[in-house]
Amino acid sequence: MRYGVAADHGGFALKGAAIERLQSLGHEVADLGGEGIPGDDYPDFARAVGDAIRAGIVDRAVLICGTGVGASVAATKIPGVRAAVCHDTYSARQGVEDDNMNVLCLGARVVGPELALELVTVFQSASFSQAERHKRRLAKVAEIERTYSRTSEVTHG
Ligand code: RB5
Repeated sequence: MRYGVAADHGGFALKGAAIERLQSLGHEVADLGGEGIPGDDYPDFARAVGDAIRAGIVDRAVLICGTGVGASVAATKIPGVRAAVCHDTYSARQGVEDDNMNVLCLGARVVGPELALELVTVFQSASFSQAERHKRRLAKVAEIERTYSRTSEVTHG
């Protein structure tokens, strides 16, 4: 499978190891940035990942920031991206099997490198179950995306 990996400065410490782990498991991996530059912005890397998925350049991605939260908030704004922060292996697997998650978000300031790599390993090993109930729910998710993509009003707290 083709993976993208990207990280802001808060997630940079894990980026190289995530790339190496995916490569060692036989995947083609695109480094979608950043370079660990202090003050860089996580939405830029969420965008790089989303664009690569939408363009069909990668199938899935790992997106890393300090907490994984900003990365997932930004990534889920991009149509076609199904991203979540998963800091436990149950969610990292089930998020793919049930919810067809295509972007795993990690927080490098929250999880240590060993757990992070375990999460990457579980994520890449999982596949969507194709169960009817999950397809039905994902169709509803896609409908939410279509509905609210058409609205121009945006509310920021
Ligand atoms: C950057 O300092 C930090 O805010 C970012 O990496 C991320 O944790 C945001 O959610």
